Amino acid sequence: MFSQKSKIVITCAKGIPSFLKEEVLSLGFPILSEGIASVETEGTMDDAMRLNLFIRTGQRVLFLLEAFSAKNPDELYRKISRMRWEDYIPEDDYICVTSSVDTPTIKDSRFANLKCKDAIVDRIKERRGRRPDAGPERDRIVVHLYWKGDLCQVFLDTSGEPLSKRGYRKIPLKAPMQETLAAAVVLATGWKDNGNFINPMCGSGTLAIEAALIALNRAPGLLRSNYGFMHLKGFNEPSWNVMRKKIKALTKNSLKGKIIATDIRQEAVEAAKKNAATAGVEHWIEFGVCDFSETPVPEGGGVVILNPEYGERLGKVEELNETYKGIGDYFKKRCKGYRGYIFTGNLDLAKKVGLRTKRRVPFFNSNIECRLLEYDLYEGSRKRDLH
Ligand SMILES: C[S@@+](CC[C@H](N)C(=O)[O-])C[C@H]1O[C@@H](n2cnc3c(N)ncnc32)[C@H](O)[C@@H]1O
Repeated sequence: MFSQKSKIVITCAKGIPSFLKEEVLSLGFPILSEGIASVETEGTMDDAMRLNLFIRTGQRVLFLLEAFSAKNPDELYRKISRMRWEDYIPEDDYICVTSSVDTPTIKDSRFANLKCKDAIVDRIKERRGRRPDAGPERDRIVVHLYWKGDLCQVFLDTSGEPLSKRGYRKIPLKAPMQETLAAAVVLATGWKDNGNFINPMCGSGTLAIEAALIALNRAPGLLRSNYGFMHLKGFNEPSWNVMRKKIKALTKNSLKGKIIATDIRQEAVEAAKKNAATAGVEHWIEFGVCDFSETPVPEGGGVVILNPEYGERLGKVEELNETYKGIGDYFKKRCKGYRGYIFTGNLDLAKKVGLRTKRRVPFFNSNIECRLLEYDLYEGSRKRDLH
């Protein structure tokens, strides 16, 4: 089962598709289309497993089971009931239905979820005599319904829990960056052990940890032991184990550059260290507690990246004016020969940096529009006209 190729949709946050597309292409998959928050490719269930293992910037790997037209909830129920669910779902398992619905006959997408869930469990009950449990937990089988206009696409969400939940962030701090976003931000800097990676204001350490995983060529999926596809009937466990073994063998065990992560709060650095240990990269990151402006910047160039508060969720804008100005001074005085980056959701604050941006990459952090601002910190870089 599932050895036939099917459409695979990988969802992601807005701003991420161009990075996700590069990842998918580099794994040898074709790109069938690119959406505002997704990339479409094709492959077998084994391919979907491989994507779950390797992809750093995507959220969910959706494997298409069937597409059909449905004009109303009854037609949806009928058509979903015809699908061979007993072949995919063990009768004693648990399913969760998620959906993305934009069709005139549905006001509340929960109703579409309910119809879809009823159709699945009723079918299994009829064929096998027992119905699986159903509910909101995404740690077992997840079915995703995409219904736009008349077109219904029914997917297996092979990821289950979103891929941003890598499993290493055990200690949550305020305003952490999602792991998938942090990976895309690191990819946007182009850093892959070419020079050093300096991350003052590291918070829970997400950027430094993702940078280490990228530089060491460690597949982020190795960190997780549970995926939606594992609960399906016919899960190809031997193939999954071989994939994991092969990718483990490709992991590097040395780095040329240094990764340095600091924060002014002891508590943040402790959390970052623990998270790095859970991710298995603590030996590759030098941690320190200090003001960002005291963060060591070794010879050799590379990337220095900060994700300061930007007044939306933490900190007050007036206080942050000085912080952003200070970052500009730190860049100018301490980081010559590096590429400087600031990830922020407040472009007014960013103006206080007082350096000309070379590049501005749009991202979204939750629903806040953000920018990754790049500064070339040439030797002798001076304050110039803004923008
Ligand atoms: C938005 S959070 C960074 C979140 C981080 N990217 C993550 O994924 O967890 C900003 C961090 O900057 C730190 N910070 C604020 N002012 C600082 C300063 N003057 N020097 C160093 N760190 C500072 C805070 O303690 C906080 O952890």
